Amino acid sequence: MGQDTNLSVPSRENSISLISSGRLRHIAFIMDGNGRWAKKRGMPRKFGHSYGASKFKEVVRYCGDIGIEFVTVYAFSTENWGRPEDEVASIMKLLSDYLGECEKTADKDNLKMRFIGDLSPFDRAFRDRVEALEKRTADHKNSLNIALNYGGRDEIVRACRRLAEKGEPITEKAVSDSLDTAGIPDPDLIVRTAGEQRLSNFLMWQSAYSEFYFTDVLWPDMTPREVDKAVSEYFGRQRRYGKV
Ligand code: IPE
Ligand code: IPE
Ligand code: MG
Repeated sequence: MGQDTNLSVPSRENSISLISSGRLRHIAFIMDGNGRWAKKRGMPRKFGHSYGASKFKEVVRYCGDIGIEFVTVYAFSTENWGRPEDEVASIMKLLSDYLGECEKTADKDNLKMRFIGDLSPFDRAFRDRVEALEKRTADHKNSLNIALNYGGRDEIVRACRRLAEKGEPITEKAVSDSLDTAGIPDPDLIVRTAGEQRLSNFLMWQSAYSEFYFTDVLWPDMTPREVDKAVSEYFGRQRRYGKV
């Protein structure tokens, strides 16, 4: 009677209590399918990005509501510069608008903002705003990491270069601590929408033992219910970390 009859799938309440026990601290999203979503509607791709951006805010809020401490989203990859100029410009405009919104609402939403990726191609004013926002929100509760001009390979190379410049020994811990994600636990669960089953250069180092959830849902059609499904499936998995 309106209840989930599949006993092997934890209910939303069960998931919330498992999350609060610390078994799922970090979810990362590869927000894919904006272009296809727009195309299906005969609209330009940028329309999909704009609708996708509003979904992103809803999903981040929902993850906070169910107690997820860390959310990371793939917003723009090092490879995405290869898209048509007007599409890149529309994504950058959305990101800059979002930064403006965060400057107003990050305190109320208790969001601890962090940008990962190589921000060096962006202008000084943008980087200063990012830095100020990160500093200002550093004590907030819900971590939101935005991957912008992010590539896993690029991140690893930049980390190793930094260590080499300092003449420090290259160990796993030293590399982890030199990545853009230093101090952020590895993602427990990586969710990719739109049917593609690949990493596309996202969190390559950090995903060594992540669980993956793939859905055909296009990102602009993403819902809290789909997050619930990913989370329940995650709690049905056995993470062995190479042990028995
Ligand atoms: C993901 O949607 C958003 C970004 C990569 C910025 P896409 O734009 O890749 O959408 P599809 O994959 O073409 O449908
Ligand atoms: C990955 O999606 C990048 C982001 C979601 C920002 P892409 O659409 O760029 O990845 P590919 O090209 O399908 O691998
Ligand atoms: Mg895509």
